[in-house]
Amino acid sequence: MTARAKLKRGVQSGAEYMCRLPCQRVGCFCRAFLNTLPGIYRPHAYWRHRLRKYQFDLRGVGHKGFSHQENKWMYSTARSVFLELCLEQRVDFRSAHMLDVGCGTGFYANVFHQATGQHYLGIDITDVLFTKLRAQFPGFDFMKLDITSQELCETFDLVVMIDVTQHIVSPRKFSSAMQNIRSHLRQDGILVLTSWLSEKIIRRTYYEVSRPLWLYKKEFPECEFSEPRKFRDKYIFSVRKQGQLGDIAGSQGR
Ligand SMILES: C[S@@+](CC[C@H](N)C(=O)[O-])C[C@H]1O[C@@H](n2cnc3c(N)ncnc32)[C@H](O)[C@@H]1O
Repeated sequence: MTARAKLKRGVQSGAEYMCRLPCQRVGCFCRAFLNTLPGIYRPHAYWRHRLRKYQFDLRGVGHKGFSHQENKWMYSTARSVFLELCLEQRVDFRSAHMLDVGCGTGFYANVFHQATGQHYLGIDITDVLFTKLRAQFPGFDFMKLDITSQELCETFDLVVMIDVTQHIVSPRKFSSAMQNIRSHLRQDGILVLTSWLSEKIIRRTYYEVSRPLWLYKKEFPECEFSEPRKFRDKYIFSVRKQGQLGDIAGSQGR
């Protein structure tokens, strides 16, 4: 075995968040090495590794410290709270064009499907589960997209972003993700999102940050916020563009 092959093999075996070396260039080697360091959060590599490992086991998108069954129970409670908020905000799933940011295992794709929703786009920073999701939801679209750096290409009546903002640890990327969504939310469209809503900004782990409500309000100055309500270990709230309470019409005629 050549020295180069040994080096490549050594890095691959020791790396928890290892991405396969696509080529032998130094830049690729450095990126791969950085992914092996536990204190450095590289979202794409992190989520690709985590979702590959857990697949549709809810430990992948939920709480790693609980079992799939325990996560399932928490998700079913969360589902009720989510639907309650949507009902209160008079979301019409049948006609709404929905964007699911960080769609993960497709939990909210399923909620939308069961509510007879038809126009759905799920985006995620990794596409490792997309083959199965496309087979499970043939009429729905799935696209690999980093909400912090790649611009959305259509507008939506309903944007759902559950358990994602805490994983956008950089302030600049957080703002960029929020503005990406804001500029692709239709008039009277609604964003539903979750957050820990701490009093100040707290870096909880190397891949999680907790933010106060005012930071979200700063990103959506012209919008109407609902009262946050408990949602698993966080809060869920909605942000409506232009602050009018009315039925969310579908994409036709807009
Ligand atoms: C904690 S999981 C939540 C998944 C799903 N929303 C749920 O509630 O079950 C976070 C998801 O966001 C995705 N994600 C993380 N950062 C992202 C980014 N910058 N752009 C798009 N998706 C991202 C991850 O790949 C993962 O699927």
